[in-house]
Amino acid sequence: MLKIYDLRTDYQINPIGIDSPTPSFSYKLSSTHNNTTQADYQIIISHGDDIVWDSGKCASDQSLYITYEGTALSPKTRYDIRLLITDNHGEKAEQSSFFETGLMNCGGFKASFITHGFKADLEPCAVFFKEFHSDKKVSKARLYISSLGIYKALINGKRINENRFAPGWTSYQKRLQYQTIDVTGLIESQNKIEITVANGWFKGILGFYGQGCHYGNRTALIAQLEITYVDGTFDTVFTDESWMSSTAEIRYSDIYNGETIDYSLPKQEVKSVSILDQPKDILIAQSCEPVKITERIPAKALLTSPKGEKIIDFGQNLSGVVEAKIKAARGTTIKLYHAEALDENGNLFTTNLRTAKACDTFICSGGDDTFLPEFTYHGFRYIRIEGLDEINIDNFTACVMHTDLEKTGAFSCSDDKINRLFQNIDWTLRANFFDIPTDCPQRDERLGYTGDTEIFLPTAVFHRNTALFIRKWLRDVATEQTDEFGVPLSAPDILKTHACMSIWHEAATIVPWILWETYGDISVLTEQYESMKKSVEYTRKLAGEEGLLSTDNSSQFGDWVALDAPKGPFRKVPEGILNPSSDERAGGTDSHLTANVYYLYSIDIIRKTAEILGKTKDYTEYNDLYGDVLEKFRNEFITPSGRIASGTQTAAALILYFDLAPIEVREKIAARLYYDLVKTKKHLYTGFVGTEYIMHVLSRFNMHELAGTILFKEDCPSWLYSVNLGATTIWELWDGVNPDGSFNLFEMNSLNQFGFATVGDWLYKDLCGLNSIEAGFKKFRISPRLVPGITSFELSYESPYGKIRISFFCENGKYIADIEVPANTTALISLPDRAEEEYGSGAYHFEYATDASFEKKKYSEDSTLNELLSNPEAGELFEKEMPYLAGSGFVKTFAGNLSVIEIDLTLPRSMIPQKALDLFRRMIDMLNSKTSSHENRINANSI
Ligand code: BGC
Repeated sequence: MLKIYDLRTDYQINPIGIDSPTPSFSYKLSSTHNNTTQADYQIIISHGDDIVWDSGKCASDQSLYITYEGTALSPKTRYDIRLLITDNHGEKAEQSSFFETGLMNCGGFKASFITHGFKADLEPCAVFFKEFHSDKKVSKARLYISSLGIYKALINGKRINENRFAPGWTSYQKRLQYQTIDVTGLIESQNKIEITVANGWFKGILGFYGQGCHYGNRTALIAQLEITYVDGTFDTVFTDESWMSSTAEIRYSDIYNGETIDYSLPKQEVKSVSILDQPKDILIAQSCEPVKITERIPAKALLTSPKGEKIIDFGQNLSGVVEAKIKAARGTTIKLYHAEALDENGNLFTTNLRTAKACDTFICSGGDDTFLPEFTYHGFRYIRIEGLDEINIDNFTACVMHTDLEKTGAFSCSDDKINRLFQNIDWTLRANFFDIPTDCPQRDERLGYTGDTEIFLPTAVFHRNTALFIRKWLRDVATEQTDEFGVPLSAPDILKTHACMSIWHEAATIVPWILWETYGDISVLTEQYESMKKSVEYTRKLAGEEGLLSTDNSSQFGDWVALDAPKGPFRKVPEGILNPSSDERAGGTDSHLTANVYYLYSIDIIRKTAEILGKTKDYTEYNDLYGDVLEKFRNEFITPSGRIASGTQTAAALILYFDLAPIEVREKIAARLYYDLVKTKKHLYTGFVGTEYIMHVLSRFNMHELAGTILFKEDCPSWLYSVNLGATTIWELWDGVNPDGSFNLFEMNSLNQFGFATVGDWLYKDLCGLNSIEAGFKKFRISPRLVPGITSFELSYESPYGKIRISFFCENGKYIADIEVPANTTALISLPDRAEEEYGSGAYHFEYATDASFEKKKYSEDSTLNELLSNPEAGELFEKEMPYLAGSGFVKTFAGNLSVIEIDLTLPRSMIPQKALDLFRRMIDMLNSKTSSHENRINANSI
């Protein structure tokens, strides 16, 4: 049987308030038959009895982003969608749904922006209100609303919806979102509409310097309530001079500093409002999912710190607020201080919040009060409570808040620590996708850094459906981009540093490209093309005659937060010292090498985009430019025999990932990278640029097992180092916390940052082996490759065509795979030791014998000599077979702490004969066989 599900308009199910004149329709198919593809479709869009578009029967397998081609859509109108499908088996299916248009550009706003009657620097949040009658039976009511500042709207005391932080953050000078809300159920005969507006991103403090008023100094509101009655008549209530303003219980609210809620106040002064001269042509429809409370987490424990602080632990680092239910004498003031961690002594650690006070203040009415801050959020796991003698932890709930994105990816494997790492990535995404992609949820920053987002996006797109969210932000990237300064460090741009940094700059090309590859929606390329091209041209101009970026024409951030910079005073600085050395944060790779790699990456994207969009002239031009810059790049950074100017892990990873070296020297570069990794005992010293690519490179260049070894490292720097120290989110710095639980006192030390979360991309693409071949996963490859320590995994990914599932085991001498391929797609399935085969949709089971085993062994070539020799039998063997070496100071003074592979690769054979190396390897096997039989015995005993 054939079924249609998930029929969406502009990525949303039954949306109301869309403004696009040409929305697009997408849907998924399911069928009880294998190998199902769509043979034809027909879409009919109607309004009442009027058909506004009938696509006719189209013989096509296109099921995503079918663009509306009917007569012009009217604003504020519901349209019904009827979809008819035939598949290749001759089966038919039908589905209907609807969409409703918004005001379709600001012309529909009769309402004016109004501002309160208080002074501009009013500290409490202004409340705008109006009373009105509505005597007839209501058939439909819509509220069209936006504000300068962030708002909460009530009709007759009830919230209009659960959304928060509306109208969201955009480049307000040019783009301000409005929301269309269905409020039909809230209208009574006597009504009061009350809307509170807080400073939010518009007027609140943002950035490092405690500066507010980035967009203006008065909060304001625009709202239009349109009521349609059953008898066909209408009423409109809209913001004008007849509204009034006051203040209420929210006495202060700031995103970084927190909120003060006072329930003990007498009634507040009422003032008239005035019309604010604010252009309405910047109003655009809300274009992504809203911020919401998505989960409520009960308090886990009440602690008393050595300092005597009363602290609640919620067990999870998150973004959001705490809801507190408190009954205390009228006027009692309670303060909640938020933090991500406790310091090594168990006291609240707040240094990494920098100037953000992250404190909510609650003043009690004397009755049963529920406090839930509305216009602030914090990045925290712990709160310190001040002002309450008796604390019942059941009265405190952490409300997790972020943009409510559909969860698309789920992964679990046979190793619990890797599972925790995966969860940490998802929590980090949730905490930082807060209306815009931010860099951190706790300190005085939370900005939409272009570089960070572009680096994390390949991982993010697996976890959540980011299509609308990132696209909204991308429009701000394009809005803020200028010919003079390029793409800013963050968008919306309140920093105005006007420092164009490669990598951050390239978000303009890379982000649309990743969206295109993931979702297969060509409109992202057409819409962003100008911005993409502008960004390449900007760099081309900077590069000038020389043709490359260099110290003469640009300054760079480089491989951000890498550990391989020559040591300066950056790490472990005394408290109070800010940004001691920005150079050290840029890592050890020549930052102009990374810059030029990104320049090439960008040109490659623009040439491919031009080709897809049929812009032949541009394609030829950028194709030539690519060849030209690549040649210059090779001359500058790669010797003819394959040495790279910067001898770092990141440099090698970038050059290999982007195929920048001549083919004949690539293996040599890979071998050198292997050697370097051995020298760091298989630890990454990469920053967030190198880290995004190095694991893929290892898998591609026959070092997949090494990537697995790196994944399983537990000492610093490594991912599991943070997991072992109790991390529940990804840290900004590899060494953010010291082994004793004390902190790296460098003040840019978020415990919730997605820069190093990019290992997620390796888990999906290389471990699980899921890779899109045709944009949007129309065709994809599944090529799972386990590593020692991971004997099985399960992955599910809700692709634009439907769920792809892979469950893969290598246990008891057998590979077992179960794979689901969604309808209307094709998969190339490439299992170990089997030829690749093409499959259509359906569920497939594979089971076959293998000698491979992925149990993690205790000893390996990464074991140090001391570790091996600590076993008496191994010690005896060494003395027996290599008495000369055993009797010398070789182990004690020299090689004891070296791993077997380090000894092999770095010591001359004159010092360490092959015979000894062979012996060490035999010891490894011997010890592993002993360990496994010993462990087997223990297991047998415990049964
Ligand atoms: C952020 C980074 C960002 C950088 C650039 C930092 O404070 O957290 O991730 O890209 O600044 O200035």
